[in-house]
Amino acid sequence: MSENLLRGKRGIITGALDENSIAWKTALKAKEQGAKFVLTNAPIAMRMGAIQDLAKQCDTIVIPADATSVEDIEKLYAEAKEYLGGNFDFILHSIGMSPNVRKGREYGDLNYDWVHKSYDISAISFHKMMQVAEKMDIMNEWGSILGLSYIAAQRVYPFYNDMAEAKALLESIARSYGYRYGKLKKVRVNTISQSPTKTTAGTGIGGFDSFFNFSDSMSPLGNAPADACASYIVMMFSDLTRYVTMQNLFHDGGYSFTGISEDIIEQFKDK
Ligand SMILES: NC(=O)c1ccc[n+]([C@@H]2O[C@H](COP(=O)([O-])OP(=O)(O)OC[C@H]3O[C@@H](n4cnc5c(N)ncnc54)[C@H](O)[C@@H]3O)[C@@H](O)[C@H]2O)c1
Repeated sequence: MSENLLRGKRGIITGALDENSIAWKTALKAKEQGAKFVLTNAPIAMRMGAIQDLAKQCDTIVIPADATSVEDIEKLYAEAKEYLGGNFDFILHSIGMSPNVRKGREYGDLNYDWVHKSYDISAISFHKMMQVAEKMDIMNEWGSILGLSYIAAQRVYPFYNDMAEAKALLESIARSYGYRYGKLKKVRVNTISQSPTKTTAGTGIGGFDSFFNFSDSMSPLGNAPADACASYIVMMFSDLTRYVTMQNLFHDGGYSFTGISEDIIEQFKDK
């Protein structure tokens, strides 16, 4: 049901790879709520073609950009501004990838070139997207910029590997740039820390099914699905959240503040 929460707003949505992606669901909801936006993803993700179907459904275009390339981001913003007919009110950074995770390197045997790649793709690209936005003065006042995080940024989840540091960096960048952009232009910057979600990035993490089920049993509301995350993102882009900034917002069914649940106690009764 549309409340037109994003009527008249323009923006950029990164990271829609397939219909499971958090960004894919966000695009559909943002469209439903009246937003105009451009979709973007790494050129390599474009080959899979699915994003063009999404663009059709959202009545928009796709502009390829590697989020680690400042030049690509500049080109993306310039072309998107022309297509949308003005500056942006929101940017979604929904990007994450670790070559170490993908290639099964353990935390005690990391390839450091890949560590740099993990940080660059999953965190520094967030800074790059904001720095380019600031330099091009492409955000409207009271705009909203969001990244997506995971609780392994703050607590140890051994399987999360070098992505844990990448997410810690992402959350720190949100605070630092949030301060700067708030002062400069009243733009807010936050991260949403999402439950484990069955997407390409999510299921690529070792032992995903176990920790998906574990956190589902721990959370009083159960794991938050991607669709609900998309709704939260839309709310954070709307004018209803103008004074929320520099926060890491847990969207996890209550998981982050649960010490233990009856479900888990039951499983350990006889140990
Ligand atoms: N799935 C989960 O369990 C989970 C939980 C918490 C947070 N997150 C985060 O949510 C975000 C979205 O991931 P998702 O779960 O929807 O998975 P996804 O695999 O659908 O999306 C990840 C996206 O990152 C894009 N990407 C990778 N390298 C890029 C680059 N160099 N330039 C531009 N784009 C690039 C991919 O093409 C893909 O579209 C990520 O930041 C992820 O870490 C996911």
